[in-house]
Amino acid sequence: MQNGYLKVEQSPASRGEVALSGAKNAVLVTIASLILTTGKSVLYNVPASADVFEMIELLRHFGAVIFFDTEHHQLFVDTTLLHAWDVSGAMMKKTRTSILVMGPLLARFGKVRIGGQPGGDAIGKRPIDYHLNNFAKMGVVIYHEGDDLCADVTKLIAAKIVLEYPSVGATENIIMAATRAQGTTKIINAACEPEVFNLIACLTKMGANIKVEAPSTIIVEGVDVLHPVEHTIMFDRLEAGSLLIAAAATGGEIYIPNACADVLDVVLLKLEEMGHAITIGPNNIGIYLKSTQSPRAVSLKTGPYPQFPTDLQAPMMALQSVACGISVIEETVFESRFHHAYELMKMGAAIKIEHNKAIITGVDKLHGAEVVANDIRATMALVVAGLAAQGTTTIAGLHHWKRGYDALENKLQRLGAKVTVHEENHDHSFFPVRPEPVEGNERI
Ligand code: EPZ
Repeated sequence: MQNGYLKVEQSPASRGEVALSGAKNAVLVTIASLILTTGKSVLYNVPASADVFEMIELLRHFGAVIFFDTEHHQLFVDTTLLHAWDVSGAMMKKTRTSILVMGPLLARFGKVRIGGQPGGDAIGKRPIDYHLNNFAKMGVVIYHEGDDLCADVTKLIAAKIVLEYPSVGATENIIMAATRAQGTTKIINAACEPEVFNLIACLTKMGANIKVEAPSTIIVEGVDVLHPVEHTIMFDRLEAGSLLIAAAATGGEIYIPNACADVLDVVLLKLEEMGHAITIGPNNIGIYLKSTQSPRAVSLKTGPYPQFPTDLQAPMMALQSVACGISVIEETVFESRFHHAYELMKMGAAIKIEHNKAIITGVDKLHGAEVVANDIRATMALVVAGLAAQGTTTIAGLHHWKRGYDALENKLQRLGAKVTVHEENHDHSFFPVRPEPVEGNERI
């Protein structure tokens, strides 16, 4: 079992002001996109989370020279001497986002070799068929050599791409490949997450020719050269949502000065429906939350942006478990993203799972317990529950927390939350290793 756990004590109402870090789901793909350029680029507002370090290691493996000034969150990347295009199975297993180097490597070298399926969270089967099938439409030949997945192309050709589902990763990968393809690529039913737009802003600065047409069509006209860039990563809307939810769970009052309300509309709507007061700063920058002391339970359905983000479903479930009334949470993006529900039940939450719906009946009190987080957002859910629960909660799965957040525990502590990180293993033998869900016998 990977080392470390989080310890959470019942905490007083959160109070104060905290600023956000850069967005994990924007920076990872942006680092991958630097493969499209030859030369020195600088990224600003880069969070120092574990997945970022993994992506840096991957680019170093390809031959990039990288310096990460973690104090100022500045990443200096020189891609002049890139010489490799293979991603080991071990690297793929470590972080799913490694798949996002495929488009840029095909554009730069016309080839990629990937050892094994991408890893990542245990929240679903997470196939990559949309990526591969659409690369094939752009002239890429995909084949296997042993366990390795190989892809070759002499020259990427533009194509009309129709996505059955607006996959974030597939949209990003295809856009990056299309920036250097011959002709104009049209992506129909593309993902429109703010992180996708942050990537498009960066590629446009590199010299790419990308247009977005409502409702969700992205048009990319291929160019011959993309040049190095200086780019600032957007703030993390998922961190913002998590901090607001954590504060609401303690009945607190917080201000996030650099949160952009425009990318959190449905999240803020749901918090207001619960009875929490939300005030937005000028130009929609800055979010102030004042909690109600008698929160109403609300129902929600996750979906592609601008619907409720699946990455805030888990923390929101924890919040509903101590609200007044019944809430139904429907998860439509990933088919097995309710592991945290069973851990919340260990803390006294009243939750029934019916297929992709969780029916939560609010309880007066939760109690601390020893629980296991199985993915990044599950750690946040269990932290939220622990802040409201009587006693002490210990959460195994610290590595997930570190993958997704840049020392978020420090920000929570600044708001008065009693959350601490412990690198060593917890000594309780009944801290079982939860087996990774195996095809067909998953708990949900
Ligand atoms: C991105 O994952 C995010 N990760 C996820 O955040 C996020 O939950 C997800 O988008 C949805 O918003 C990063 O940006 C690094 P998808 P991604 O392709 O790109 C199916 C977190 O906690 N699908 O939009 O992998 C897939 O199985 C993480 O920060 C296919 O069937 O998500 C899923 O059901 C977790 N075939 C749905 O589409 C494909 O080829 C959405 O996946 C691709 C996807």
